[in-house]
Amino acid sequence: MKPKVYIAKPIPKEVEELIANYCDYKIWNHEEPIPKEVLLKEVEDVEGLMTPKGIITEEFLAYAPRLKVVSNVAVGYDAFDIEAMKARNVIGTHTPYVLDETVADLAFGLILTSARRLAELDQFVKSGKWRGIEDDFYGQDVHHATLGIIGMGRIGEKIARRAALGFEMNVLYTNRTRKPDLEERYGIKYCETEFLLKNSDFVLVMLPLTDSTYQLIGEKEFSLMRSTAFFINCSRGKVVDEKALIKALQNGIIRGAGLDVFEEEPVEKDNPLLKMDNVVTLPHIGSATAKARFDMAMKAAENLVAGVTGKVPENIVPELKI
Ligand code: DGY
Repeated sequence: MKPKVYIAKPIPKEVEELIANYCDYKIWNHEEPIPKEVLLKEVEDVEGLMTPKGIITEEFLAYAPRLKVVSNVAVGYDAFDIEAMKARNVIGTHTPYVLDETVADLAFGLILTSARRLAELDQFVKSGKWRGIEDDFYGQDVHHATLGIIGMGRIGEKIARRAALGFEMNVLYTNRTRKPDLEERYGIKYCETEFLLKNSDFVLVMLPLTDSTYQLIGEKEFSLMRSTAFFINCSRGKVVDEKALIKALQNGIIRGAGLDVFEEEPVEKDNPLLKMDNVVTLPHIGSATAKARFDMAMKAAENLVAGVTGKVPENIVPELKI
């Protein structure tokens, strides 16, 4: 008998076929997110769950007594309650590597859009306001500017490579551990956070959300940044104190921001960030290309199948690796 699994999001046909070869499955095939009560019912007798955002808590696990593996279709797994999963012996997997370059592209999109005011000027042209060459179109150079990257993981590295080799930027970074190989390869420089904040034209955070990164960037950090600097975030909204960010933007402490992520998602309609011309806002699209999302779904399917067929999935999240 094939193991039973539930897929809590629509997936490409090829990915579904792979799962069908090994599992007895049901799937949530609707665009809107699966309602919690439907999910709780569906997981009652499954051994595997594939989910776009695995909010896996002790309470959730109580509804899924047979669950062995949760395959998250994302690299970030901040919605996993690691202790609860350990206590129940549930394997958690994610999808690293396949989206790294895609998210790094978007980080550069945010840098360029913020610095050169692309979104604001797009609206300017489309609203018929363009009359001639006006000084008010000026933005800020990206090439040869200083980029400070907080978090030099896999994606941080890809951003650093683009910055150093493509845009000939001066790249500073902070990280839990120093990366001498990258320093040598790309000429990037490790430094203290305070030095990075004071000396960067663009401060970019690329951190996972954990207890130790929650609201890591707040009022003090913004106060150290240059008044001409931009703040860029396409990792997790909660690594920033969003109220402090709003204050820094309102008071001219920093020049602007490029944000793919927010404290609450979808962002609330009355969030002041949505009213600011010097803030670029995106709906958490870091990995949103057809290829990256296909590869993520395929990787998640492989992890799911391995987990329910007694093999060791390739991408168990680090905290749950034995
Ligand atoms: C991830 O993979 O964690 C992304 O943020 C989801 O798009």
